[in-house]
Amino acid sequence: MIQGLVTIAYIAAAILFILSLAGLSNQETAKRGNIFGIVGMAIALLATIASANIQALIYILIAMLIGSLIGARVAFKVEMTGMPQLVAALHSFVGLAAVLVGYNSFLKLAGHEGEIVSGALLTIELTEIYLGVLIGAVTFTGSIVAFGKLHGIIKSKALSLPGKHWINLSAIVVSFVLMGFFINAGGSMIFLAVMTAISLLLGLHLVASIGGADMPVVISMLNSYSGWATAAAGFMLSNDLLIVTGALVGSSGAILSYIMCRAMNRSFLSVIAGGFGNKSASAAKDEETGEYREMSPEDVAEQLKQSRSVIIAPGYGMAVAQAQYPVADITRKLRDMGINVRFAIHPVAGRLPGHMNVLLAEAKVPYDIVLEMDEINEEFPETDTVLVIGANDTVNPSAKDDPTSPIAGMPVLEVWKAQTVVVFKRSMNAGYAGVPNPLFYKDNTFMCFGDARATIEKILKAM
Ligand code: TAP
Repeated sequence: MIQGLVTIAYIAAAILFILSLAGLSNQETAKRGNIFGIVGMAIALLATIASANIQALIYILIAMLIGSLIGARVAFKVEMTGMPQLVAALHSFVGLAAVLVGYNSFLKLAGHEGEIVSGALLTIELTEIYLGVLIGAVTFTGSIVAFGKLHGIIKSKALSLPGKHWINLSAIVVSFVLMGFFINAGGSMIFLAVMTAISLLLGLHLVASIGGADMPVVISMLNSYSGWATAAAGFMLSNDLLIVTGALVGSSGAILSYIMCRAMNRSFLSVIAGGFGNKSASAAKDEETGEYREMSPEDVAEQLKQSRSVIIAPGYGMAVAQAQYPVADITRKLRDMGINVRFAIHPVAGRLPGHMNVLLAEAKVPYDIVLEMDEINEEFPETDTVLVIGANDTVNPSAKDDPTSPIAGMPVLEVWKAQTVVVFKRSMNAGYAGVPNPLFYKDNTFMCFGDARATIEKILKAM
């Protein structure tokens, strides 16, 4: 394809990616945003394949066919609850790709050293390669650990090696010192390989040391890193579209990390340094003891019928139980009875940014009754009944009341201020952060045990 046409196609793809991000920022336009993204990616792929720079097209087509088949199979099979770990796994591929592109560029460069590139240009190319491999390696192993934590293969608790901050700091300092040697030597495989090993270990350690409730920040941070790794690959391959796309992903991931940090009332640096969620739950208080009271689904139905206002606070358990459909049915029923029903969405409820919004949209819950935490927190004292459906950490009062709690300072949904709270879960177990929840023992709280979907269906039947 003529280079001019490729450039036009790249510009079109870049614009579509920007429109895609803009669309994804709102539930009502999210579907359109996805379509823009798909079209942009298709244009980008076609233009790249058709560009004059591509050799051995057949290998690329075979690789794409295999990749597409695996991707389609995974996408069709994955449950909504498995999305976070899928995203983490995909981030690890981006990191690995950046490392491989870096090594490939270095080997190519080393083969022509002195002939083609020298002076300042050589320094720039070596810097690109070095940084690309560094970011890629950290993203690769960091994402693998994040995958393990989200999939439950690795404990979500933070790893706490003695002097862990010093370990991280030393790894970063040594990597940058090696960068000086690498560039001074005009490129040396030894320095590159040593840095790669250090970065791989740094990625492992960095994410392993962040635990519990801080995981949302880690996920968005890795999202951002994968963008910068892509941009670095773009510089190495002199591909403008990769640079633009990488910058878009990198900066939107950084903004998301900022939003997540604000939602958890944490500074980004303190999360990366791994403070939050580090104190084990037992460090604060071992086992929450006290009396809790139960309510049967039939009694919950009665309680709802007598309420004038109801707020539903969903969490990860709603996703596990796939309870959004009966929840949407019960919402319709209550609204038909003239009861004011709203949803309270905590920014880190579930395991993925926007997790609850996606589930509720899937079940066709009207957007205008789905409110963010800041919009609804003041409404709880005037509410008759709150249904906490599979949420735990996000409704834990110890975040406000107990300064020794590992989640102290995290803003939470203040559900306990309502007249009556019903909590739907299967046991008295703690949530993701492993912190006991005093909400369950409050005078106005009732536990309704069982799988959330089955329980809500029973309530619907009783109504
Ligand atoms: P969690 O604190 O994770 O609690 C979920 C609760 O759902 C559990 O206590 C569990 O209790 C219950 N549950 C599980 N399966 C159920 C089922 N089938 N039926 C009924 N209940 C079920 O939930 P949350 O309040 O949404 O908080 C999210 C947590 O995940 C936070 O700590 C957050 O920091 C972390 N996190 C969030 C993200 C993002 S980006 N949102 C990413 C990573 C981590 P039982 O076992 O007793 O049923």
